[in-house]
Amino acid sequence: MGKSLGEVKQTFLFCDGGSCRKAGAENVTRAARAYLRNSGNWDETHTIKTRCNGRCEDAPTCIVEDGHFWYKKLTPEKVVEVIESHLEKNQPVEDYLLYAQDWKAVKSEDERTKFKIKPFEWESHPELGNCQITKGLSSDQYVYPLFDYLHKNVPGASYETASGERFFFRELIELRYTKTVELEMIQEDKTVELVIGAVPKDDQELKKLKITNTHYFYQENSGKVGVRFANNKNELIGYLFLGKPNEKVWEYCTKIQLQNNRLESISV
Ligand code: FES
Repeated sequence: MGKSLGEVKQTFLFCDGGSCRKAGAENVTRAARAYLRNSGNWDETHTIKTRCNGRCEDAPTCIVEDGHFWYKKLTPEKVVEVIESHLEKNQPVEDYLLYAQDWKAVKSEDERTKFKIKPFEWESHPELGNCQITKGLSSDQYVYPLFDYLHKNVPGASYETASGERFFFRELIELRYTKTVELEMIQEDKTVELVIGAVPKDDQELKKLKITNTHYFYQENSGKVGVRFANNKNELIGYLFLGKPNEKVWEYCTKIQLQNNRLESISV
């Protein structure tokens, strides 16, 4: 029989995203679970591994519910202290807190400035010719939503691989992101895979395929907008062609992907 959820009083959410894993999240989670088991608190608590919680600079992180307490830079020793304090005294451990409900700001020693998309600039691009171009974000938290949006809303958008194979989103039977790092675009007769997840540092083959550079552009010649994907050496992986800049999809790109950076005015 599974856990009786009605008895669970406290839930601990451990970040298992790339930065937290690098900073020792697995050992933190193991120490927490071992403590909960051995202290006889297993049935009244619940532990969950999450993906990135958006506070990578404070890795490894953990959230304690009830109470909405965020903890930073945990170690196996600190996490046991935190759990003990919540379960036995119903108190957070102030020194390790990153954020608690109703705080105005986080308490971080390593706060990063938010990545800012640069304004579009005109350039003469070796592949695109004269264009307005800017660099977007390449993590799977941006790339997958972009493809998901196109799959659900823009049948006329197309993707072209570096070898020149092109297909329209209307031809996709399914868009699947269930593998560890690959996004699969499944058509009737073939599947195109794009590497969009975090790849192991020493896997050169995957690194070569991973989308690391994402550029949004307006091409003067064609009057069309699109996205260029490349690897960490800026070698082409593929293109998305999105039509004219006055179409709804470009409004989506501007607002959701480009922090409201707009093209310099052009006549369409
Ligand atoms: S990977 Fe844990 S907060 Fe980002």
